[in-house]
Amino acid sequence: MAEACRIVAEVLEGIKSRVAPGLTTKEIDSYVESFILSRSAKPAFKGYRGYPASVCTSINEQVVHGIPSKRKLKEGDIISLDVGVHYNGFFGDAAITLPVGKISDKAQKLLDSTEQALVKGIAQAVPGNRLSDISAAVQQHVESQGFSVVRSFVGHGIGHELHEEPQVPNFGNPGEGPVLKEGMTLAIEPMVNEGNWGVTILDDGWTAVTKDSSLSAHFEHTVAVTEKGCRILTKI
Ligand code: MF3
Ligand code: CO
Repeated sequence: MAEACRIVAEVLEGIKSRVAPGLTTKEIDSYVESFILSRSAKPAFKGYRGYPASVCTSINEQVVHGIPSKRKLKEGDIISLDVGVHYNGFFGDAAITLPVGKISDKAQKLLDSTEQALVKGIAQAVPGNRLSDISAAVQQHVESQGFSVVRSFVGHGIGHELHEEPQVPNFGNPGEGPVLKEGMTLAIEPMVNEGNWGVTILDDGWTAVTKDSSLSAHFEHTVAVTEKGCRILTKI
């Protein structure tokens, strides 16, 4: 899994330096697909339940699962990039949200708070804790910053399949669900809205957008629960 996850981390690192006004999301998809194939790996999302691309590109009020298109990024946008890799029988999955050029202070705060919420959630992924300790830590941080967590999409177990048990919600009370044990691997992925938590799906059947059209951010890591604590696999 660490090998699959390293490829995910490298792709996202590569996109970081390329995202700029004028770039189309289809160009991002081409970059992601060729990078993954060049590592003898497979893009995990392409063909998954009919999803047509190797990366999800979700701009501004788009929450997750945006489909790459000829749309050009413009100064002030935020874009969430979600990449999955299948390598040697194992999956890796991660996401980041990036600013395009200069963004507003509010948008930057949304990005920072979402990434911090992921860090807080990850800190709970240690042996002996309960699954919902992760959920509660994420929700608590997000709401303390004045934002809201999306309810209709959740994180997940990951390993030989992209999506395995258990679901990992980004909200809930601490102390519930399975006890975390060494060797468990999870994709933790807070999706955070500037406004209300409600989302709706566009007519393309994939793109999730905020109901109130407020901005949304998404950060995700694949992690392993180890004896020594939590190991982030999708980090270089
Ligand atoms: N990180 C997302 C997830 O775990 C990405 C899935 S996109 C899809 O669900 F195209 F594969 F559906
Ligand atoms: Co995921």
